[in-house]
Amino acid sequence: MILAANFKTNHTRTSTKEYIEKLNLFLDDKKPNVDIFIFPPFTALDRFNTKVHIGVQNAYMTEKGSYTGEIGLEQLNEFGIKSIIIGHSERRHILGENQEFIAKKFQFFKEQGFTIFYCVGETLDIRESSHELIFSYIDMQLEGIDLGYEKLIIAYEPVWAIGTGISAKAEDIEEVLEFLSKKTKAPILYGGSVKPSNIADIVSISNCSGALIGTASWDIESFCEMVELSAKS
Ligand code: PGA
Repeated sequence: MILAANFKTNHTRTSTKEYIEKLNLFLDDKKPNVDIFIFPPFTALDRFNTKVHIGVQNAYMTEKGSYTGEIGLEQLNEFGIKSIIIGHSERRHILGENQEFIAKKFQFFKEQGFTIFYCVGETLDIRESSHELIFSYIDMQLEGIDLGYEKLIIAYEPVWAIGTGISAKAEDIEEVLEFLSKKTKAPILYGGSVKPSNIADIVSISNCSGALIGTASWDIESFCEMVELSAKS
């Protein structure tokens, strides 16, 4: 089971440190069989004394250079960061990253041996159109992506379910996970309004290897509760 916490633009350097300390205590006590990844904001990156993996929500495909506002490998290496989220819907739809750019970023971090959380998911208008369109939309988001990469983790995150409090229905998640599982052997996560009240049901859906969690992960008690619930499922 894999659980990932995407802090997005939340938490500070101080609160991230406190969060990881509390998480360490919880993990030492409960020893859940869950692989945990935390994606704090850039300003909170550090070499933490922890068993959880620390990753980045984004980075630029360069070792270093002139890319104002971005960070590259040199900054990631300082903290031993080897995990990254690529293709998140907020970067696709708010920050304007297109598939060609995303595929290049994927290729770069694959060559560097990063664990890549690669996100796909349809928009509401696609979800409300036809079934065929949902799958062809997701197929487009897989263009240029090596689905055989051994450090790939896919996250299916329907755009309309992210941050809205309304997760996708189990049968809809199951259908997309099945579609994806025919294309890749990579673990497949679900993301989109995962919370303590629905995580057990979500991680028990077939082909679901865990969850990528935004909002409900920002509170340490809520995240620990989800780790415990998913370890039991
Ligand atoms: P959410 O975000 O849990 O707040 O819906 C999930 C994500 O964006 O990864």
